[in-house]
Amino acid sequence: MMTDTARCALVLGASGGLGTALVVEFLADPAITQVIAVSRKGQPLSLSVSDDVTNKLVWIQTEYDEQSMTTVVEQIEGHAGNIARVCICHGLLHSETIWPEKRLEDINADALHEIFQSNTVVPTLWLKLLFKLLKGEEPCVVATMNARVGSIGDNRMGGWHSYRASKAALNMVLQNMAIEYGRRAKNVKLISFHPGTTDTGLSKPFQAAVPSGKLFSPAFVATRLSEIMDNAAVDGELSYVDWNGQPIPW
Ligand SMILES: NC(=O)c1ccc[n+]([C@@H]2O[C@H](COP(=O)([O-])OP(=O)(O)OC[C@H]3O[C@@H](n4cnc5c(N)ncnc54)[C@H](OP(=O)(O)O)[C@@H]3O)[C@@H](O)[C@H]2O)c1
Repeated sequence: MMTDTARCALVLGASGGLGTALVVEFLADPAITQVIAVSRKGQPLSLSVSDDVTNKLVWIQTEYDEQSMTTVVEQIEGHAGNIARVCICHGLLHSETIWPEKRLEDINADALHEIFQSNTVVPTLWLKLLFKLLKGEEPCVVATMNARVGSIGDNRMGGWHSYRASKAALNMVLQNMAIEYGRRAKNVKLISFHPGTTDTGLSKPFQAAVPSGKLFSPAFVATRLSEIMDNAAVDGELSYVDWNGQPIPW
């Protein structure tokens, strides 16, 4: 679909596997006129941008403390009312010092804080700070990357205490936001999205256990999410769905 109106896509946490794939997806979408990518890192060398869409991409480097995030929002204020897509891609499962807990003895306060900061606090701050830019007349769909393991109803295995808890907490934040945005910014639709196991740095250590054909490429998931966002009804409700558009129990 071509459009005369400016329609901007915002990708937050853009240098990760899914973030970068979403940047590529939106750059190729003729209905999107501007892509704003936000990351702690510079534009990845692996991100090849063809000459015809170079001007379509703006890459902003930032830290994720509230003051720095506020500055990012001020930088993109000119797009207020024209932001049609927002993808919040932050997520941490493991690092050099953090490993998902297998049993309660593995729980560590520093790791809990770090995982919650990335998976819950940073997305929450974006939804707070972006409110005034997203509120308007034009429909805006916001997808926050969650995970099926954030479902309480679906949890039969336990483990991964901090990651699961941070994603379940993210769902509560998103539900609260859906209620408040539903009252104060009726043009905004919120989606809590499970990408499925996707071939990125986050899933790398766990990919051996993934059944054949069940490990998705980031490009496949980005296309699926873009289609889900295109077809989402702006209904004031939070949708918790997987890559196939299927609802996940809370
Ligand atoms: N891959 C999977 O199989 C899978 C499955 C289920 C759910 N997910 C979810 O999908 C989302 C994207 O993950 P991915 O697979 O693309 O992983 P990834 O390649 O490791 O990317 C991680 C993303 O999280 C951000 N991030 C990392 N540490 C952070 C921190 N301390 N503070 C703030 N942001 C931080 C990074 O932002 P910068 O650009 O600033 O570095 C990056 O965009 C995550 O929410 C993840 O939980 C992934």
